Amino acid sequence: MSDVTVDLLGMKLQNPTVLPSGILGESLGMLEEAAVKGVGMLITKSITMRPREGYQGPTVIEAVPGGLINAMGLPNPGVEEFAKTYKPKMSGVPVVPSLYGNSVSELRVLSLAIDRLDPPAVEVNLSCPHAGGSSRRKLVAQDPALTAQHIGAVASTTDVPIIAKLSPNVTDIYEIAAAALFAGASAISAVNTFSAIEIDGHFERPVLGNFIGGMSGPAIKPLALAKVTEISLAMRDGRLEEAPIIAYGGASNGEDIAKFLLIGATAVGLGSAVYKRDVDIFSESTDELKVWMKEKGYDDIPAFRGKALEWLESEETPEYGDEAPEDSAFVNMQSPLPKPSEDESEEGEEEDEEDLDEDVEEDDLDEEDLEE
Ligand code: FUM
Repeated sequence: MSDVTVDLLGMKLQNPTVLPSGILGESLGMLEEAAVKGVGMLITKSITMRPREGYQGPTVIEAVPGGLINAMGLPNPGVEEFAKTYKPKMSGVPVVPSLYGNSVSELRVLSLAIDRLDPPAVEVNLSCPHAGGSSRRKLVAQDPALTAQHIGAVASTTDVPIIAKLSPNVTDIYEIAAAALFAGASAISAVNTFSAIEIDGHFERPVLGNFIGGMSGPAIKPLALAKVTEISLAMRDGRLEEAPIIAYGGASNGEDIAKFLLIGATAVGLGSAVYKRDVDIFSESTDELKVWMKEKGYDDIPAFRGKALEWLESEETPEYGDEAPEDSAFVNMQSPLPKPSEDESEEGEEEDEEDLDEDVEEDDLDEEDLEE
């Protein structure tokens, strides 16, 4: 039987699945249900000092297949109300508060209030891509100095482990991770949503109530994998101190979880996918991960964590060699791009339809000749 338990910041998780901040966090009942149904760790909605109503709708749209854009506006009851019902554990599952501060001083006061609730850890949301409404102001997690100030403020008020939630909307995410770890974070969570806008062609205006939102869902998974890889590689080559990574970004099943673990993550969020697969996704994906591990012959997660990074560290382009995975969906995938004809690639000339027809006939002839 595969062991899928995870040690994360002193917490023993029953599996690597995480409910990310903002998903199902509207009511305690929903968090409790996720806990009962097998999630490894829960992160609450981002809590602010004062209550926030959130933005006017539409707040969530499916902009492309598998790509949601949201701008909720960090709706939450404020720390005072939150404190009345918060529990550090639900059905044995750690409940980690997510903190959002409008300023360094506000974050410090908020963190003090949260520290009194004895949480197992806190996640600091430095990266909501539209926290400033539609103002497009710089995010904290787009600036190493601001990141260090915010994390430093939290570190000065609490001894519990701090998870810094980073933005993908940066050039070098590992530099922001370095600032967060230097200032006292013990783990990185990455990535928050990708900055996104959809335009209504009929009304000729942005669709979301807040205009600007953040994209999530399976469509961003390869982008998130790339960002997490950047952080992991920096940890491996010593540009960044070692720390656990909680990966967020489009995972929706057990094999997706394996993919993030293969690039060095310790735990993996299942966010937008909860809306497609329901709250059973946590136990089902854990079972899928176990099946994947059994097929690969892995007894536990450390046996393969970070394994795919070896390919990215190599100086040469590695080849699949004799072990080419013939059943890989990707290796055998046909390119969706049209193949350029020889004439086109040599002379860069476009062929007209007549030429194409001739080519087809010639190809047919060649095949016939070969058969003879
Ligand atoms: O709109 C929201 O509440 C999203 C927050 C976030 O992406 O951090």
